[in-house]
Amino acid sequence: MQNFEYYNRTKIIFGKGTEQDAGKETAKYAKRILLHHSGGSPVKTGLLDRIKDSLKKAGVEWVELAGVLPNPRLSKVREGVELVKKEKLQFILAVGGGSVIDSSKGIAMGALYDGDVWDFYARKKTAREALPVATVLTIPAAGSESSISSVITNEEGPWKQSVNEECIRPVFSILNPELTYTLPPYQTACGVADMLAHIMERYFTKEPHVELTDELCEGAMRAIIRNARRIFSGGGEDYNARAEIMWAGSIAHNNLLSTGRIGDWASHAIEHELSAVFDIAHGAGLSIIFPAWIRYNIKEDTPRLARYAAKVWGVDGAYYDYEQAALEGVFRLKNFFRSLGLPVSFADAKLDPSRIPEMSRGALKFGSLGNYRTLTEKDVEAIYHIAAGS
Ligand code: NZQ
Ligand code: ZN
Repeated sequence: MQNFEYYNRTKIIFGKGTEQDAGKETAKYAKRILLHHSGGSPVKTGLLDRIKDSLKKAGVEWVELAGVLPNPRLSKVREGVELVKKEKLQFILAVGGGSVIDSSKGIAMGALYDGDVWDFYARKKTAREALPVATVLTIPAAGSESSISSVITNEEGPWKQSVNEECIRPVFSILNPELTYTLPPYQTACGVADMLAHIMERYFTKEPHVELTDELCEGAMRAIIRNARRIFSGGGEDYNARAEIMWAGSIAHNNLLSTGRIGDWASHAIEHELSAVFDIAHGAGLSIIFPAWIRYNIKEDTPRLARYAAKVWGVDGAYYDYEQAALEGVFRLKNFFRSLGLPVSFADAKLDPSRIPEMSRGALKFGSLGNYRTLTEKDVEAIYHIAAGS
């Protein structure tokens, strides 16, 4: 097991009606804040009005910035930075999913920096300070509610890039599973694919002695699969299934499951190119890329892939050799994604394979990818081709 430090400052406030606490919790940090959201679902569902009531009751004033798009754009982050500086705001409350939260984190870094906030994403500068960010989460997926990451698309590129810094980890996050009842099934499915991918990125490691986190990962993946099936088999308003999925989304990405091990993370970088070029939902990009990545690695570490197939997908080792078991695991993963209505190939999502060379170059813009297996541009290209069926 590798040495590690584990620290996660995000206070999680979980359960029914917890959005009522937004004002009270925010007031502990600031009395004038930026309220950041999409302008879409939280307005329609009435959530935003409830948050405003809660802020009013706690004596917190806000300046509002709406218009965050899925795959959040740099231009909105820059607009937010200007607004926060002009209004001298000291805190950002994000109401929404990963996109709104990541946009808020970008604004939080930019607010305390004199240059262009893209410098942090382009890795020209390291962010050491940021305004405090908190969240009211409306979709379990990205895990941004307690992660150190912000992923932003520079529309001039197109270039989707992440920053990973402790200073942007939210100070608190409110998670009410009831808020996820209004999610379209496709968005629920994308979220499930993303949280499964966050665990798989960590699970596929070369570190041999990580039994505890191996088992935690396997158990978490099984719980996600089981509860996703419950939601999709008619229980869209099954509170407990929604609650399991919501908490799993945070656990999948709050780094507890990374302790003592080094994850892979190539699939995420390969997917970010798909989102940047085709503006596809991140989870749907992952349901296309991850099975292809596993397929490409079958000969790299067959026993581990066979274990994944057995422990997560119930592939019985008595009937398969290692390689067949690993292949059966990929087959069941793809079937699961399909059963949720997710794409598992370029064709399913109508993506143009002629962009593969450009995306392969883009994925490697900061050098090689992956820790479980180091990938060159040629490897990445081959993975895209598996996903394209070409
Ligand atoms: O825009 P609105 O109208 O609000 O609708 C959203 C959006 O269209 C909708 N939605 C959210 N909550 C809803 C709802 N619709 C009805 N009822 C609700 N309760 O869902 C759509 C997707 O929202 P989005 O915030 O984009 O989803 P997600 O949370 O999956 O975030 C995706 C972004 O996070 C990044 C991804 O790359 C992508 O840009 N990631 C961020 C990470 C992080 N910061 O740690 C890690 C991840 O690996 C990921 O890369
Ligand atoms: Zn992800």
